[in-house]
Amino acid sequence: MKKKLLSVLLAGAMCLSMTAVSGIEADAAGVEVGIVLPTKDEPRWLQDQAQFEAILGDAGFTNQVLFSQGSSATERTNVETLLNAGIKVLIICAQDAAAASAAVEEAKDAGVTVIAYDRLITGTEAVDYYVTFDSMAVGAAQGQYLLDNMPEGETEIPLYLYAGAATDNNAFLFFEGAWETLQPKIADGTLKIANSSEAEALKDKQVLERADQSKIIGQVTTDWDFNVAKSKAESNLTAAGADAKGDVLILAPNDGTSRSIADVFVTDPDITSYQITGQDTEKASVQYVIDGKQSMTVFKDTRKLAADSVAMAVAILNGEVPETDTTYDNGVKEVPSKQTDIQVVTKDNVQEVLIDSGYYEASDFTGLE
Ligand code: BGC
Repeated sequence: MKKKLLSVLLAGAMCLSMTAVSGIEADAAGVEVGIVLPTKDEPRWLQDQAQFEAILGDAGFTNQVLFSQGSSATERTNVETLLNAGIKVLIICAQDAAAASAAVEEAKDAGVTVIAYDRLITGTEAVDYYVTFDSMAVGAAQGQYLLDNMPEGETEIPLYLYAGAATDNNAFLFFEGAWETLQPKIADGTLKIANSSEAEALKDKQVLERADQSKIIGQVTTDWDFNVAKSKAESNLTAAGADAKGDVLILAPNDGTSRSIADVFVTDPDITSYQITGQDTEKASVQYVIDGKQSMTVFKDTRKLAADSVAMAVAILNGEVPETDTTYDNGVKEVPSKQTDIQVVTKDNVQEVLIDSGYYEASDFTGLE
């Protein structure tokens, strides 16, 4: 029996609030879309899954989101499963930007339109569209937060740098945005890099080449893995001298790694205070922010990203050119893209940004006033 995946009728898709689906002709054919996400083990991607399911559930249709569980091989199998099911549009968040090219080329060969979701797929013509948050802005917001909250009047404030996985193009964009914001204060001696000789060697260079970024990320990557983040933080603190302790700043790339790194720093008696960044507004990190254990997080409204990509799929299936507002260079082509803004969340605006907007319930957290 042929399994029907993510069947959505236009009428259902038109229920999506504030998306580009308005204006689509109501009598158009049904939509068949497959969605592949990287892993269930990070709450970030469960947020996206929930949003896809809400959209498709509201439309009254069954849906299936497949997870690659950190494996490019599983990702390929997932894509093949969806191709066998007859999808017309593939929405895929790649496990590995380069390795995913084989899977999407197979999809393209089967006549499927490919939408890269959140993470760009590089080095292939087989990406038709990209739906993303403004990842450079995420990094810039993290860097700016650290600058706005660093101890006043001090110099050589220790700065610990951590990054995402080198297989994820976003890790470069986040780092680039943060570096360009922080670098002037590193170059003038206000900040002192505590855990990367490669970054230290590049401290006078405001705009880094990709190869420069690779060198730094090679040293400070967390691989998007809590355990790697934890052990890297532990060994950094073991190696750090007294001048790299005291009041410190920590650039942590996302919430999962931020909580792991914060848990390590908080136990070091020579760390007097720390400011640490994050992103994704994972519930556990929102609680950390409320409790003062994580300084900030970045809200990436997955309702908007999921809605934008489903709206894009609907347009494609309706024979229209989907709405895009920018392009991203994936190494071989400029991919037409739709980009969404991000928002900084601190203790002061959790209520307004996350509760009042209906993203989370106040009862998800304790100590929220
Ligand atoms: C996403 C982040 C996420 C990270 C780890 C990135 O590509 O943009 O939101 O925290 O991957 O999964």
